[in-house]
Amino acid sequence: MVKICCIGAGYVGGPTMAMIAYKCPDVQVVVVDISASRINAWNSDHLPIFEPGLDDVVKSCRNKNLFFSTDVEAHIADSEIIFVSVNTPTKTRGLGAGKAADLTYWESAARMIADVAKTDKIVVEKSTVPVKTAEAIEKILTHNSKGVNFQILSNPEFLAEGTAMDDLAKPDRVLIGGRETPQGQKAVAALKAVYAKWIPENQIITMNLWSAELSKLAANAFLAQRISSINAMSALCEATGADVTEVAYAVGKDTRIGSRFLNASVGFGGSCFQKDILNLVYICECNGLPEVANYWRQVVQINDYQKARFVNRVVASMFNTVSGKKIAVLGFAFKKDTGDTRETPAIDVCLGLLGDKAQLSIYDPQVTEDQIGRDLATNKFDWDHPAHLVPTDPTAKKSVTKASNAYEAAKGAHGVCIMTEWDEFKTLDYQKIYDGMEKPAFFYDGRNVINVEALRKIGFIVYSVGKPLDPWMKDLPAAA
Ligand code: NAD
Ligand code: UDX
Repeated sequence: MVKICCIGAGYVGGPTMAMIAYKCPDVQVVVVDISASRINAWNSDHLPIFEPGLDDVVKSCRNKNLFFSTDVEAHIADSEIIFVSVNTPTKTRGLGAGKAADLTYWESAARMIADVAKTDKIVVEKSTVPVKTAEAIEKILTHNSKGVNFQILSNPEFLAEGTAMDDLAKPDRVLIGGRETPQGQKAVAALKAVYAKWIPENQIITMNLWSAELSKLAANAFLAQRISSINAMSALCEATGADVTEVAYAVGKDTRIGSRFLNASVGFGGSCFQKDILNLVYICECNGLPEVANYWRQVVQINDYQKARFVNRVVASMFNTVSGKKIAVLGFAFKKDTGDTRETPAIDVCLGLLGDKAQLSIYDPQVTEDQIGRDLATNKFDWDHPAHLVPTDPTAKKSVTKASNAYEAAKGAHGVCIMTEWDEFKTLDYQKIYDGMEKPAFFYDGRNVINVEALRKIGFIVYSVGKPLDPWMKDLPAAA
């Protein structure tokens, strides 16, 4: 039986390994983590992450060929293939702070592997890492090796949260990068054999290590760039009376461009896009390519502009102040079908509104009150990335409450902001919401999920990103 160990039981390690165990009953998979609470949750009825379809897959394999453990050393020693799926956040201090990837967790995982390995290992980069990381990892492993041979592979993950299980079951492609030596190619073949159990071979792409590492950063940069492109257009749509949904439809009909990932929004969030682009910017700078760095930096800057623009729309239209006004925030997660709030645009929008002394009532079906409290109290870095619309205000916590549903959040509110495109927001009784609000009742849709005309008919003053402006907002300042 092939034995696989995965270091890091997070949003990637957990679902990815569950899918391997599910599709490969003859492979034993152990997911290890230094966080005992995370491992306990993986072994319980309440998994640590919400992901549609994940529960069923985990339950069908857990304690058969899928295990979760804190015994990191023993399982590393025991396995032939070791995935490393630890977090690689943006550095917040020191050299490259605010841009470079922090590889502390990766390095400590590599040192641990070198320390305990007594047999040859294939070490797989699952985390998203800067191009050339495999070279650094190779050095750590070989300089600390006790006569053991290590092969490093790059196997970046392309799943998106909320659709992770479908993405893993039917990926567009699987990427495996390895050294172009006989041993390197043998390792590539061994990993390919695992994926080939359920993925057609022509979708498993093999290439050199550096191409595989860079392809992941490039893919995320291209995806985020599409969103910033359509969001930049949304500002122009608002200024001219064009409708961004119609523009996106027309543009996306060109098969060279394609229709997906062109939804204008309050901005992209999530743990990957911003981090990976900033990392790309840093790599470009380090390689003496300031023009290339600036090109990609702009994708993040437009994203910040979009969030700030949204806050300005809210405040400017409500008589230039939201001080003391209750504002309902519907959705806090960075997208629907996840409880993840990392880099959610809701944080910046809420902080912007709190900066103007609003009283926020937040409802999200998956995000806890504690999480919201932590997110709104955490200082973000602001080196060359001034996402922060206001400095974190320690008294702001008192101005935030968590509601148990959308109606409670909106009761007595002056305005409602949609921050996440949860399906349930499409079918709310908006007449009931309107009746319970202060008048004039304002509605700001950051995800273009509601029917603007229907809400205007009810009586709302409506702003929806990139849509023709309500006459109320036409002459108000719009720029961030
Ligand atoms: P995460 O923070 O959810 O999980 C990482 C886990 O690694 C944590 O539970 C942490 O405790 C554990 N860990 C850290 N150091 C460890 C060590 N030395 N030994 C054992 N455990 C350790 O992160 P994530 O969202 O799963 O992302 C992991 C990587 O995958 C990142 O590089 C990310 O960029 C990449 N990625 C993420 C996504 C996504 O949608 N979240 C998609 C593709 C790629
Ligand atoms: C992303 C990549 O899609 C995935 O391939 C990679 O492995 C990890 O990063 P994720 O961040 O989980 O996945 O979700 P994604 O669907 O890409 O959405 C990211 C953000 O962009 C969300 O805030 C989403 O709401 C926003 N978005 C997405 C838009 O604003 N408009 C769109 O058209 C698409």
